[in-house]
Amino acid sequence: MPALRGLENGLALDPKDRLIVALDLSSVQEADAMVERIGDAASFYKIGYQLAFAGGLSFVDSLIRAGKRVFLDMKLHDIANTVEKGVESVARTGVTFLTVHAYPQTMRAAVEARGGAGLKLLAVTVLTSYDDRDLAEAGYAADVAALVARRAQQARAIGIDGLVCSPEEASALRHGVGNDLLLVTPGVRPAGSDPGDQKRVATPAQAIRAGADYLVVGRPITAARDPRAEAAAIVREISSAAD
Ligand code: C5P
Repeated sequence: MPALRGLENGLALDPKDRLIVALDLSSVQEADAMVERIGDAASFYKIGYQLAFAGGLSFVDSLIRAGKRVFLDMKLHDIANTVEKGVESVARTGVTFLTVHAYPQTMRAAVEARGGAGLKLLAVTVLTSYDDRDLAEAGYAADVAALVARRAQQARAIGIDGLVCSPEEASALRHGVGNDLLLVTPGVRPAGSDPGDQKRVATPAQAIRAGADYLVVGRPITAARDPRAEAAAIVREISSAAD
């Protein structure tokens, strides 16, 4: 199985489109200024809880109108009817990626509601902040590796489009699920940059070689003195690792 991917619907992705910048900022004004500073060095942005609950859902629309792609990281999990209605609403916004937790009932409801819309659903198998002890405390008998593998297979069988995983998990998952699922990896740090609170990090090149299709990078870009130059450097690294 090829280690390198970066295909979507069988088409090779432009290296620039494989970088997703996490806009973990506290206001739309800051996010807007950051997107402006990054300019055409990135085309894909992730909006999570912090910005979404600070007016970021309306910012989705302006990003899309500006020709950017949006990853809405809402990690949905609720009764099937509520998940379905939520996904139907997101599918109408033009968002490209939406996350759900990898519980079979939640994943089925999301796939059903997405229907023929262009929205791609990503499942979070086990949060990377969980270790075996955290799972036991939450009442699970399985360890992290077993639960990640089980949920990845369930995601594939249900028709989920991709998984969010650490770069460390990427190569095992790529072997486990083949090329059926997109792999999207946070925890990416260019060589020499501050890992922050990320415990298991990989460089952009390592993540690409492990089989990641898309890399999510936040603080190394948004906290850089020159976010545009940092994004461009990461894209160059993606490009040479993918050659
Ligand atoms: O700033 P940094 O590059 O660490 O940002 C990584 C982004 O990816 C954050 O928005 C974080 O919430 C998200 N994420 C993560 N680990 C996961 C899932 C999502 O770091 N397992």
